[in-house]
Order: sequence, then structure tokens, then C-alpha cells
Amino acid sequence: MNETNDVFSSSTPLNIGIIGFGPFAQFLAKTMIKQGHILFATSRSDHSQLCSQLGVKFFKEMDPFLDSNNYDVILISTSILSLSQVLSSIPFHLLRQRTLFVDVLSVKEYPRQLLLQVLPEETDVLCTHPMFGPESGKNGWEGLAFMYEKVRIRNEDTCSRFLQIFRSEGCRMVEMPCEEHDRQAARSQFLTHTIGRVLAEMDIKSTSMDTKGFETLVYLCYLQKNDTIKNSFDLYSGLFLHNRFAKQELKNLELAFETVKQNLLNKMTETS
Ligand SMILES: NC(=O)c1ccc[n+]([C@@H]2O[C@H](COP(=O)([O-])OP(=O)(O)OC[C@H]3O[C@@H](n4cnc5c(N)ncnc54)[C@H](OP(=O)(O)O)[C@@H]3O)[C@@H](O)[C@H]2O)c1
Repeated sequence: MNETNDVFSSSTPLNIGIIGFGPFAQFLAKTMIKQGHILFATSRSDHSQLCSQLGVKFFKEMDPFLDSNNYDVILISTSILSLSQVLSSIPFHLLRQRTLFVDVLSVKEYPRQLLLQVLPEETDVLCTHPMFGPESGKNGWEGLAFMYEKVRIRNEDTCSRFLQIFRSEGCRMVEMPCEEHDRQAARSQFLTHTIGRVLAEMDIKSTSMDTKGFETLVYLCYLQKNDTIKNSFDLYSGLFLHNRFAKQELKNLELAFETVKQNLLNKMTETS
């Protein structure tokens, strides 16, 4: 493809169908609409009012959603825990053309495996994790990481036009296997959520003499309680149940806590 075609192609709007129109999909939709893409959505709950304000055509039922459009992309943005149930409710035979399926779940090996299992062979698959949300991305996406793996891509043009949505907003594009994503995310994301939950459970609050270190802990606790993603227990348990590396991280945390405690107890015995 020559450069002129490339520019034309990347600026051609995509027909994007969204399955699962929760807080994260709503957040992504605003930028996609701003860029001129044409959006359709379906979800368990009725989001038709919000959709009409945003300029998204909403379908209460899956059949007319699939049957009424030629989708370039179908974006899956359901909770991790409901993915399997949602995928099994999709009437794939109603797809009108070869479509790129993209998921944005915060774990990656699990949707990768499930999508390859249930999607028709002729569909393309892109697994992604935008490493930001409505809170961290509220002032734009410049410099924020966007992880992806091209799992089964035959239509490179559609795939690159989809990735362009994030690239053109200034995201740091990170191409990485889903397995490696989960290994790293178990340490970074799952551990952050776990420590945040422990601090929230302890209800730590600012004091009149906070150190920088303690300010960081208070901030982590604040994020856990107030982030607009609400850090639902569903999301947290999804990060644990569907990332095989998370279980090891929880064990590592318990072991590390025991070691720190034991070192203190040893010191106490030594000095008494
Ligand atoms: N929020 C973030 O910052 C962020 C960042 C990156 C990736 N993600 C990923 O994006 C996805 C969506 O996240 P989210 O923040 O919008 O919240 P979420 O709670 O993880 O997902 C909410 C969505 O899942 C649907 N859903 C939940 N249970 C369902 C069920 N039993 N059957 C059918 N649909 C069900 C909801 O449908 P209704 O709304 O119709 O009830 C809603 O569309 C998640 O997989 C998450 O891991 C989130």
C-alpha cells in the first residue's frame, strides 16, 4: 500500500460494535466518537439513554445488534468474570462480514484462550489492555501505556486502523505476548490492588506529620476507595482468578510479610 492509501485508510472511520457498555467502554467510546468512528453497543443493562447522548446506537438485544451492521471491529468490554457467559450468548452466525474481535480485559491469557476457542475461525483477534482508566486518563492519553498482542490477524489494515485510535492519542504502544502481560501485571497491578485493599481495610489516613512515603500509602488507599472505576470486588477477584501468576504473587506477599515479622521477632529475642 502506498503512503497516500495508508493515510486515507487510517483516517477512514471504523464501524465499531461494543459488547459490554460499562464505565470503561463509555470512557473509550468518547474518544472513538471524537475521532469520527461510528459506534454501536449492546449490554446486559439498558444504556440507551446515555448512548443517545453520546451518539452511539444502542441495542437491547444481541441478535439485532449483530444482524444490523457490517462491523469492522467488535470490542469486548465486559467484566472478567462474565466473559465466558457473554461470549456464549453471541450468535456468531449473524456476523455479516469478517470482523476483528478486540478485548480490553485487564487479564490477557484468559480472554486469548477463550476467544480462540469460541470465535469462528475466519474472525481476527486482537487482545489488548489499555493500562489506564477514566481516572488516570481523564486529561488525555498522552504517554499512557497500551498493551496488545496480535493473536490472529489477517486483515492488517483494520487492525492498524484500530491501533491508530490509541497511537494517535499519544499512547505508548507496547506489543507483548499475553502470557508476559499477565506475569508482569500480577506483580504491578494485582499487587497494587492487594496492598491498596489492605491499607483501606486498615483505614489509614493522613496525619499532621506525614512523610513522603506515608503520603504514597495514603494515596494508594485513596485510589482504592475513590477511583472512578470503583475497584469493584468483581474486578479484583477477576484479576486474581483469571491470572495464573497472581496466586504466586499472593503467596510471595504472605511469605515476605512473615519474613519481615520474623526478622523483628528475632531482633527482639536478641536484645532481650
Ligand atoms: N475501568 C478501567 O479502568 C479499566 C482499564 C482497563 C481495562 N479494563 C477492563 O475493561 C472491562 C470493563 O471494565 P469496567 O470498568 O467497565 O467494569 P467491569 O465491572 O469490569 O465491567 C462492567 C461491564 O461488564 C458487564 N457485565 C458484568 N457482569 C455481567 C454479566 N453477568 N453478564 C453480562 N454482562 C455483565 C456490565 O454490563 P452492564 O453495564 O450492561 O450491566 C458492564 O458492561 C473489564 O474487563 C476490565 O478489566 C478496565
